[in-house]
Amino acid sequence: MTKKKRILSGMRPTGPLHLGNLHGALANWVEMQETFDCFFFIADWHALTSDYEDPSAITGYTRDVLLDWLSVGLSPEKSTLFVQSEIREHAELYLILSMITPVPWLERNPTYKDQILQLSNKDLSTFGFLGYPVLQAADIIMYKAYGVPVGVDQVPHVEITREIARRFNHFYGDVFPEPESILTKTPKILGVDRRKMSKSYDNAIFISEDPDEIEAKVAKMLTDPQRARRSDPGNPDVCNVFEFHKLYSDESVIENVNKTCRTAEIGCVECKQTMAQFLIKALEPIRNKRKYYVERPQLVDDIIADGCDKARKVARQTMGEVREAISIK
Ligand code: TRP
Ligand code: SF4
Repeated sequence: MTKKKRILSGMRPTGPLHLGNLHGALANWVEMQETFDCFFFIADWHALTSDYEDPSAITGYTRDVLLDWLSVGLSPEKSTLFVQSEIREHAELYLILSMITPVPWLERNPTYKDQILQLSNKDLSTFGFLGYPVLQAADIIMYKAYGVPVGVDQVPHVEITREIARRFNHFYGDVFPEPESILTKTPKILGVDRRKMSKSYDNAIFISEDPDEIEAKVAKMLTDPQRARRSDPGNPDVCNVFEFHKLYSDESVIENVNKTCRTAEIGCVECKQTMAQFLIKALEPIRNKRKYYVERPQLVDDIIADGCDKARKVARQTMGEVREAISIK
């Protein structure tokens, strides 16, 4: 049997995960568990780069994300699931990589400039925020990952990681492979306001959402913007509710909506109610699994501790090689 290739990816703990995460990153990760040696971790130190003024929520969010991961089928038997701050070696490697990373590489990072503009309510003119990609590089090369499944927004960070790895190898000898981005398809579904689904836009439906809340949020969803009145025919092809139907509803319902929307036989209120019921049903196994883990906190603690132990072993091995390579032990 050939050894499985290693991949690694992480998420910042910024709150519970939503349907965009489920159909994007998570679905991809769950599938990749079958073919790769997977390392998935929660990047809590990265959350600190922007939330340093009040980090009190980060630990709770870390737990939320972990529960969401387990409830959608990331499995501690198949993957190594861990928390960044539990592996102090990341901080050491980050320090060493910071010595060889030219500041202009960080200053021209597109996500850097973009985030400073977008999060204008926060003071992000810190050393730590500028160094975000250096910490990410440490996360990735620590495990000598061959591939990093990420969304397009993260590709520049993987690019910087490759450059840092190359520079390290150039100075100190070949220690690190250069990781590749493995692009995650972005899901077609949008938030309830038709913008990209995101927690910070307050338009997300969470995977752990209560049925009542799902009904309320779906009722508020924007539909075909041209369909102003009940008597106007609609166009499901431009309607976000229909995208949800395609993901969650029975084939016959999808066909029926596709027909009766165009002839104004069905109204949006009814169409949404039907979809909400299918969505609630589809999320039921996830909700149940989450409840199972929430009721067994010790089991969850053990799962994290196990994952961290496995990750730490690899990290220690790598740091041994790094200290050897830079001749400072
Ligand atoms: N920056 C990533 C994000 O915001 C999270 C992250 C941190 C990450 N370290 C990583 C992703 C290493 C992949 C690999 O989504
Ligand atoms: Fe969208 Fe359904 Fe309304 Fe048609 S009937 S516009 S598919 S919500």
